Amino acid sequence: MDRALIPTSDPDWTVREIGHDPLRENSRGARFAISNGFLGVRGTHAIHHGGRWVAKSRTLVAGLFDTPDEAQGIPVLVATPDWTHVRIMLQGKPLVHRPGDGSSQQRILDMRRGALLTESRWLNASAIGVRLQTLHLASLSQRAIALQLIQLEIEEGGVDVTLEASFERLDNGLLPERVEQDLGVWHAISSNRRLAIAAALSLRIDGRDVPATLCSPFHWSWTWRSRQGQIGCLERLVSVTRSDTTDAGPAGDARHALGIAQELGWSGVVAAHEAAWASRWRRSEVVVEGDAGAQQALRFALYHLNGAANPDDERVSIAARALTGDDYRGHVFWDTEIYLLPFYILTWPEAARALLMYRFHTLDGARAKAARMGWRGALYAWESADNGDETTPSHAIGPDRKVVEVKCGQQEQHISADVAYAVWQYWQGTGDDVFLCDVGAEILLETARFWSSRAQPEAAGRCHIRGVIGPDEYHESIDDNAFTNVMARWNIRRALDVAALLRARWPARWSNLSGRLCLHDDELEHWRSVATTITTGFDPETGLFEEFAGYFSLEEINLADYAGRSVPIDVVLGRERTQRSQVVKQADVVALLALLPDEFPGDSGVTNFGYYAPRCGHGSSLSRAVHGIVAARLGDTEAALDFFRETSAIDLADSHAAIEGGVHIAGLGGLWLIAVFGFAGLSLHGDYLSLDPKLPAAWQSLAITLEWRKRRLRIRIAQAVDSVEATLEAGEPMKLIVRGKELGLTCTETPVLSNG
Ligand code: BGC
Repeated sequence: MDRALIPTSDPDWTVREIGHDPLRENSRGARFAISNGFLGVRGTHAIHHGGRWVAKSRTLVAGLFDTPDEAQGIPVLVATPDWTHVRIMLQGKPLVHRPGDGSSQQRILDMRRGALLTESRWLNASAIGVRLQTLHLASLSQRAIALQLIQLEIEEGGVDVTLEASFERLDNGLLPERVEQDLGVWHAISSNRRLAIAAALSLRIDGRDVPATLCSPFHWSWTWRSRQGQIGCLERLVSVTRSDTTDAGPAGDARHALGIAQELGWSGVVAAHEAAWASRWRRSEVVVEGDAGAQQALRFALYHLNGAANPDDERVSIAARALTGDDYRGHVFWDTEIYLLPFYILTWPEAARALLMYRFHTLDGARAKAARMGWRGALYAWESADNGDETTPSHAIGPDRKVVEVKCGQQEQHISADVAYAVWQYWQGTGDDVFLCDVGAEILLETARFWSSRAQPEAAGRCHIRGVIGPDEYHESIDDNAFTNVMARWNIRRALDVAALLRARWPARWSNLSGRLCLHDDELEHWRSVATTITTGFDPETGLFEEFAGYFSLEEINLADYAGRSVPIDVVLGRERTQRSQVVKQADVVALLALLPDEFPGDSGVTNFGYYAPRCGHGSSLSRAVHGIVAARLGDTEAALDFFRETSAIDLADSHAAIEGGVHIAGLGGLWLIAVFGFAGLSLHGDYLSLDPKLPAAWQSLAITLEWRKRRLRIRIAQAVDSVEATLEAGEPMKLIVRGKELGLTCTETPVLSNG
């Protein structure tokens, strides 16, 4: 057997499934998906069995948006041809699926190598058997390239074998422009976007190349008579390219990329891909001792996070289901900036920068949305596709199957502050002044300008933001959402900081930028006054933020009475009653506490968490992770671990949520956040990092790898001896504050701070 087809032996590095359950096949498509940030290939079986082909294999291409349904008018990530399809006939009869065959099927996600492997034995209707091993990968070293290897062994000699390898659904979504034997070009219906695919296939039997017996466009077929013990190996290399304009032809690029891969040969492609994965693991690894489940959950999270981004494409961002499924149509939400960006900033700054560049390139869309709604500055789209236009559907089918209006596209405006927050974090984490001057400053200023026009002065000179939706989407058209207002104030203040910084350090840049934005001192003065007068809903007497004006007088519902429910709480209570109640869909004030803990004076963090956590229905996959970060920071590590486990179950167990439509990438980012910002207690400061670790009892140790301002460091926190060991692996000396004590790190020493 070829080494490429043998999985990593360490079970911590694999997700395995034995058996084949057609009912679960679509959810496996998400869990076992492979992706490189440009191509996402769902992990459904490629081998055709039975008379009808029902498995939904699917390849998603980042940024390939089209608006196929003009009536709905919403761009979606469109279907591309399925390049993985294989059909095997033995004595003229197809392979069949019979109940009970399952035990001979294994699907293995090899996370270390970024590959999907399967091992199976199938029979045809006359019980002639074939043993198959497959490997699929989307190359991390050359993102246009995907590879399929299939090794087959017919169990009997003298059998007539037909192997067909094809691309299916050639005209399913995009319009074919040119379809040849091994090259196709398709174009979008409503835009200039085009897709090209080039392919090279070969079959070797017992080590010898066998020419295809029949060929037609994107269809190859081989026929031979088997010999016992004979091994066949199908190799399919494909290259996929996208072009966004009419002048650039994607076909040439696809041929060129394929040529490079062919030069390497499949084993070279595998080796380069594995080396790229090894590098990602080195830069982002998290090791937990004492809790194998948590270790596996973190590996699974890092696997999908490392596969979701592409540092080379500034025109795309990460969708709510990454490239693993169709839910949310490939649209981008605040999920990226709040749940994913911290991971990239601190382990893969090049990817983080590209993701923020996407927001820069869509800034005009955000300006247009603000202007259309009568405000100034930039209001980002709640759901964003390729050009920054608002793409949230106006209506959807609610949990009670009635059509409901979706107001998020108009009212969920905190997204603008979330983007600003990520820009600031990126700058804090990387010290990338060029980015701040050329890109970040403009985003911060334009979003601050939006908030300063959005918050309106009323009685007693207080400014209010009325008619919004906060992260808690159960409550619409509310006034003064604490999350929105405090984030807006923070956004304005950081914009004022950046204005002062540019003016002092890069005056030419400031005069150019402020001139272009027509930003004068009197406007900055106005921003300052909005920041000081904005209503936040904080009551110094009780230490509580009111989630929004009037929240405290809504109906209190004891969610403990509904423990064990299998459907979201708004389905149990009904939409109207949920809206009239204090039940929170997802972390809202708690999310504010996670993002801006300094806005919670004294022990008001504990007070707010104690008040809001029991009121939360966790109706979103994003919610528990944020509760986990906060619980860990507040020292309730066991509650935090429960939130961690429930978050990991979303995509790894079949109990919590539907995952047919893709993995919940924000929840996966949240697992990393709980480990790093929660249990390790990391905080970013102007010119240093700090840690305040508190591990759950089961975790003997936690080791994390971080990049910070061109340095790479590894931190290991050991429970038993209560020690923190920090190794600066690369970069200039730096300061790390651990539980208030300062450690000076240099590349030559590994200080250990021990309380034990
Ligand atoms: C959540 C949003 C989230 C979106 C995409 C919704 O259910 O409420 O906060 O951005 O899903 O993940």
